[in-house]
Amino acid sequence: MNDGRFDNEFSAFLRTLKQKTDIVEVIKSYVALDRKGGNYWACCPFHHEKTPSFAVNEGEQFYHCFGCQESGDAIKFVQEIESTDFMGAVRILAARAKMTVPEGSFDSEEAARKRKKRDAIVKIVLDTARFYLANLYSGDKRAEVYLKYIQGRGLAPTTVKKFGLGASLDYNALPDYLLKKGYSREDMLDSGVVAENDKGRLYDQQGERLVFPIINAFDEVVGFSGRKLEKVKFGKYKNTPGTLLFDKSKTLYNINLLKKLKREQPINEVIFVEGQMDAISLYQAGFKNVVATMGTALTREQARLIKRYTDNVLISYDGDFAGQNADVRGLDILKEAGLSVRVVPMPEGKDPDDVARESAEAYQACLDKAMPVIDYRLHALERNFDLSLTAEKRQFIAEALKIVKTAESESVKEELLKKLRDRTGITYHALERDLQNVKKDAPAEVELPKEKISEAATGTDKKRKATRFILAAKLFSAPYASKVSVEELPLKDETHIVIAHYIAECERKGERIRPSELFELLDEKCPEFNAILDLNYGDKLTGEIAERFFLDSVNTLQKEAIEEEITRLNGKYAQATQEEERKQIAKQLSECIKKRNALKKN
Ligand code: UTP
Ligand code: MN
Repeated sequence: MNDGRFDNEFSAFLRTLKQKTDIVEVIKSYVALDRKGGNYWACCPFHHEKTPSFAVNEGEQFYHCFGCQESGDAIKFVQEIESTDFMGAVRILAARAKMTVPEGSFDSEEAARKRKKRDAIVKIVLDTARFYLANLYSGDKRAEVYLKYIQGRGLAPTTVKKFGLGASLDYNALPDYLLKKGYSREDMLDSGVVAENDKGRLYDQQGERLVFPIINAFDEVVGFSGRKLEKVKFGKYKNTPGTLLFDKSKTLYNINLLKKLKREQPINEVIFVEGQMDAISLYQAGFKNVVATMGTALTREQARLIKRYTDNVLISYDGDFAGQNADVRGLDILKEAGLSVRVVPMPEGKDPDDVARESAEAYQACLDKAMPVIDYRLHALERNFDLSLTAEKRQFIAEALKIVKTAESESVKEELLKKLRDRTGITYHALERDLQNVKKDAPAEVELPKEKISEAATGTDKKRKATRFILAAKLFSAPYASKVSVEELPLKDETHIVIAHYIAECERKGERIRPSELFELLDEKCPEFNAILDLNYGDKLTGEIAERFFLDSVNTLQKEAIEEEITRLNGKYAQATQEEERKQIAKQLSECIKKRNALKKN
């Protein structure tokens, strides 16, 4: 940063800021420092280590890590630890020193405007939080149900205060209150706490809800999540819409208290739960190292955010957490950020809140069973099968071996096979042999990027061949093809669709299929069309082998369609925020998996 670029006022400001700022105090607020010799020491917040090599020199006002070579002054430290830019760090330090950054000296006009807007929103949202809080303890009759509900969920008064819970008693009081305080209508709307109805009237976004303030790592209230107490079909929880201040995908509920915790003690692992009630409940039970994703799929920003606090993540989602594609993708995001991930098995149908409310010991028992993702997937798979039935046991083993195949190392494979042996009573030797026969192109559910690409290629290739064969057999009226309707085929290729459409038309009208008529619909040079016509040469379409190939092809496409549907549902499941919706999708998913299993048996 070239100080020559600053005007005089800003340079003077920066000098004063540096004088007023003590790097030891600043760093202390993020990590515990130990005085030894002339320096202060800590475990480096920028890389993982067990013995401190991060030194802070008080006299010279700089830090240096002998492990990762990071070094700099207080501004640089804040820039790094808060993932912000120079001005962002200056603003944070200025706030600490109770100084005001001179306006317009450095920011571009646009940035200054944004900054101003943000400041306005911060105030409105904070006032709103205070308003909800006051409602709860106002003695207003309408507040009673909220207090009762909180009590019913087993939350102690200190917990309720710690998380700043509040209540909205109606739709109008908040906008009236904010207007009276002098906030502009525009800023109020931009803050997301109110919205406008068709008649242009402002109303409280959290109207008649129990309100959980969402607080960022700087202790700023950025938004709210509100719960309807009565049963509702949709929107049990409603969040503040995205604003300049609030981005659900970049926020983790309870990150503010996690940051405080880190100042007191090193954090070995962070527990990820879905809901804010889960987070509060765990916190109260003594598991303070918890954050909630608020029901959404994990994002890269959230992974990076948590990496500043720990290297180890425990996923503690509801008992029906599928552990399949979509969820695993979320877990991959964590792994990519360099986090080690384990999954906490939950009793079926229960969420962490339910278990923690039973007792802290009960939840601890779940934590003690936390297992690597691949082990968890086997565990989750097993729930779908009754191993006392031979047929189901076989299916289970077939599916389980596909998961084992994705293990990163031979030693992990061996470990998993031993577990499978213990669960099924099949000998290790037999399982190992079967594992070798598991095809590489079996749908692997854990993603190994490079392999995945080639797998996808062979997958589509196989599918294309199958489709060509089925269409050719229909087109040239092979007797075995009559039972299958082209309308059931999952088609994407334009040429395939034209051909299938023609065949379906003929069948509907009871007319003979004349392949030559297709020359009017398709370019005779079209390679895909030709590949299909080619199948009519020789006796590729006749005989027992052709018939078997036909049936295999149909099976392949059906499987493909089912796999696609499963992937789609998994994606939908990850996006779904409503419990009802999730249950619905989970049901459809298990139907699909059943169908897939049935197809595999054939
Ligand atoms: P859950 O449906 O699992 O609710 O949603 P929960 O946390 O167990 O809630 P309680 O115990 O009934 O109070 C998990 C999280 O998903 C988000 C919320 O953040 C919720 O905490 N969610 C859920 C929504 O955003 N909207 C909804 O309608 C439902
Ligand atoms: Mn719950």
